[in-house]
Amino acid sequence: MREIYFESIDSTNTYLKNNYESLDDMTFVRADIQTKGRGRNDRVWKADKGDNLLFSILIKDKEMIDRYKALSVNSAYIVLKVLESYGIDNLSIKWPNDIYVNDRKICGILLEAVSRNDIECLIIGIGINVNQKEFVGEYITDPTSMYLELHEEIDLNEFKEKVFASLNNNLREDYYEEIKEYDYLKNKEADVMLGNEKKHIRVLGINRDYSLKISDGTRETDISSGEISFHI
Ligand code: BTN
Repeated sequence: MREIYFESIDSTNTYLKNNYESLDDMTFVRADIQTKGRGRNDRVWKADKGDNLLFSILIKDKEMIDRYKALSVNSAYIVLKVLESYGIDNLSIKWPNDIYVNDRKICGILLEAVSRNDIECLIIGIGINVNQKEFVGEYITDPTSMYLELHEEIDLNEFKEKVFASLNNNLREDYYEEIKEYDYLKNKEADVMLGNEKKHIRVLGINRDYSLKISDGTRETDISSGEISFHI
């Protein structure tokens, strides 16, 4: 494992996209602030300078690349367990890769693939709200942070060491049985767009292959991430 640090960068994901050829598998890139932090669905990821843990992991190992469907949920689970060890309760994973405390988001994950003919590498970008006390502006989901949950300042460096070590040691594991216990969307109902159709669905849960099983009352469907977006 190698760590690269920037005080300021456009985006740690973008950095790895541009530099993956000359970097090793399991390179971690971290920054105190991102000027163009990116979220899922072309959204902006906002995070105040120096308060949060913002980083990306480069995956070049072929076996790991083949597990790409499992990787985002499993990385969310590994981060969730570190958050839990700090005493944060009511944590869950909102498929495919957000971590919630009750109905507020504390961590977002952006998994990207760089492809030519095959997938050359994966980039797992992770933003964890740590010591940020105020979230100003519009957010699709109400945010929270470790500070807001625990009412105390977290030693960011110590937290970083724990998260990096845990990801480095455990990313090859598969935690499906454990993950099922933390499924935020399970049994929730929502109006969603599926293709061009608006449907009222109920979520049945995360499948073994990390797709999501939903039901519209008459039919069950398995969907992969990217096909659907939930704003519950
Ligand atoms: C989301 O919930 O939409 C995903 C957010 C991912 C944010 C992290 S912060 C570090 C890395 N660099 C980025 O530009 N994005 C990810």
